[in-house]
Amino acid sequence: MNTPPSGVAPKNIPSGPIIGIDLGTSTSAIAFLTPDGEPELIQDLNGDTIVPSMVQLLPDGQLVVGSVAKSGAVTYHDRTAMEVKRLMGTGETVKLGKKVFFPEEIGTEILKHLKQAAEAKLNREVKDVVISVPARFENSAREATRKAAEAAGLEVIRLINEPTAAALAYGLGHIADQSKVLVFDFGGGTLDVTVLEMFEGILDIRTSVGDDKLGGKDIDEAVMALLRDKFKETTGKKMPPPSRDRKAAQRIKEEGEIVKKTLSFSESVQVNLPNLVGDQSLVCTITRDELDAQLEDMLMRAMAVVNEALARARLKWDDIDVILPIGGSSRIPMFRRALQFASGKELYSGGLNPDEAVALGAAIAAGIEQDLYQKQQKDIMILDVSPHRLGVATIKQVGSEQFVEDYFSELIPKDAKLPAITKRDYMTLSDGTGPIAIRIYEAVTEGNLCREHRMISELALRALNKESKDEPVQVEFRYTLDGTLEVAARYISAPMVQVDGKFVLDAPGAGGAEIPQEVWRNAPLAGLVLPLIEQVERQVKERPDIASTLNDMAGFVKLAVIQNDEDEVRKRLDKLTDLLFELT
Ligand SMILES: Nc1ncnc2c1ncn2[C@@H]1O[C@H](COP(=O)(O)OP(=O)(O)OP(=O)(O)O)[C@@H](O)[C@H]1O
Ligand SMILES: [Mg+2]
Repeated sequence: MNTPPSGVAPKNIPSGPIIGIDLGTSTSAIAFLTPDGEPELIQDLNGDTIVPSMVQLLPDGQLVVGSVAKSGAVTYHDRTAMEVKRLMGTGETVKLGKKVFFPEEIGTEILKHLKQAAEAKLNREVKDVVISVPARFENSAREATRKAAEAAGLEVIRLINEPTAAALAYGLGHIADQSKVLVFDFGGGTLDVTVLEMFEGILDIRTSVGDDKLGGKDIDEAVMALLRDKFKETTGKKMPPPSRDRKAAQRIKEEGEIVKKTLSFSESVQVNLPNLVGDQSLVCTITRDELDAQLEDMLMRAMAVVNEALARARLKWDDIDVILPIGGSSRIPMFRRALQFASGKELYSGGLNPDEAVALGAAIAAGIEQDLYQKQQKDIMILDVSPHRLGVATIKQVGSEQFVEDYFSELIPKDAKLPAITKRDYMTLSDGTGPIAIRIYEAVTEGNLCREHRMISELALRALNKESKDEPVQVEFRYTLDGTLEVAARYISAPMVQVDGKFVLDAPGAGGAEIPQEVWRNAPLAGLVLPLIEQVERQVKERPDIASTLNDMAGFVKLAVIQNDEDEVRKRLDKLTDLLFELT
């Protein structure tokens, strides 16, 4: 254990070093902030800074991780776990030899391996970490990541969204202030496109849109299909299905990745796999054009994600100042060309390696948490949005006697600025004799039925002592900056809160940081809100019981001010005025 230095330690700030970790689908990395404030990757005990996210159970029962596991993947194809990140929190399992593992346990092994590397490098115990996750990771996957870390002896101080981490790594000192940035994060498992704005040390995330089934892994599949076709063309025989010849399948997979990577730099590549199936070898050439033709469909899907992100951020290509390609798959020329063509702009390179940026950014975020970074640079604040829609299950009346059960009623929309507070009123349909279940859902699709979505929790609102039907109930959601969702429900006729629940949703935002005075007070719309904000500040001192509500609401107003969104400012001011009137 680290002992804190004598004197008063700042509250909630861990005393040891905080480390940044990118726990990726295909590769992981760990980084720390050097004493002069520069993020630096740490080599693992195999000598790698980019560590394959692979875990292998050797026949003697030993677990090996990283490049050692990767080089044994052909021999021990049935004892190697890879690309399990997509399975985090799903309850699915992977089998290594005869042993069954949860994806979280595989994650734990990778994290232990990285922890060990950091401890060897820094020569002290490493406990506190910032881990990056895909921006649109669901709540269950975020929780699974936390659990995996806990089991590895790590404490997650914060989860940070991968594109935000990358923007931190590139942004600070490289990208001009006042830039609108589109992060094209094309990794091993997913494509995530995030639009954010940087100004005055604030990273304002506008939206993250993505495709969870589009990543390097899927491109590998396309290359493997191409290799299997070539096998059939050259030998006249079909390759056996992977379940029949897992060794051949693993060789095709490894070769496929090499082919794919090589074609990012060369126009063609020579393949030579002797005795691939029995004594049949695969010898052929694959050209970049052949690969491009296979990827056309994926390109369309990728560009659809990009367009959706722009639309959600209400921006056009002209508004975007910087296009940041990150993730290993963003090296593929066809995707780069399409981005350049659509935007009419060059892609940003910034001198960082696209598969290192996220870990470096996580280390910077760790430094921010530790207040280490502020000493070196100006204050940095991350304003985040809700990655998914949140709501409750209701029964919707669609005709005089027709009802849709299990209808998703949205309280917090996707991309809602955090903190977000919404209240909605509902009517009870039961006769008031039994408790009312309040089921809280995170939307996974655009659909309106709860069964398509993921339930976060369930609360019971006890029955009112009444015979009556049609009893109005108010449900309130508060999604705070530190990533908790607070849910309250009350009968409107008996306005005491009846149920009250708190759930960690891990909004990887600013951690409750306040918008600095000098930032919002200098914005053009500040004059409009100043008197009310001052009134709020007085009230906050006098009424500690409602201080947090007031502060949250004032936060919205300030946010709209710095975004220079007059409509939003007026809307928020009205709400704040109502609240002040109501509460004081
Ligand atoms: N030169 C290249 N050309 C094409 N693809 C590449 C190249 N280099 C790496 N890749 C691919 O990039 C992917 C890995 O990228 P990265 O390490 O950024 O992803 P990850 O962090 O593991 O995944 P995710 O962020 O989706 O969880 C792999 O699929 C890898 O094959
Ligand atoms: Mg990644």
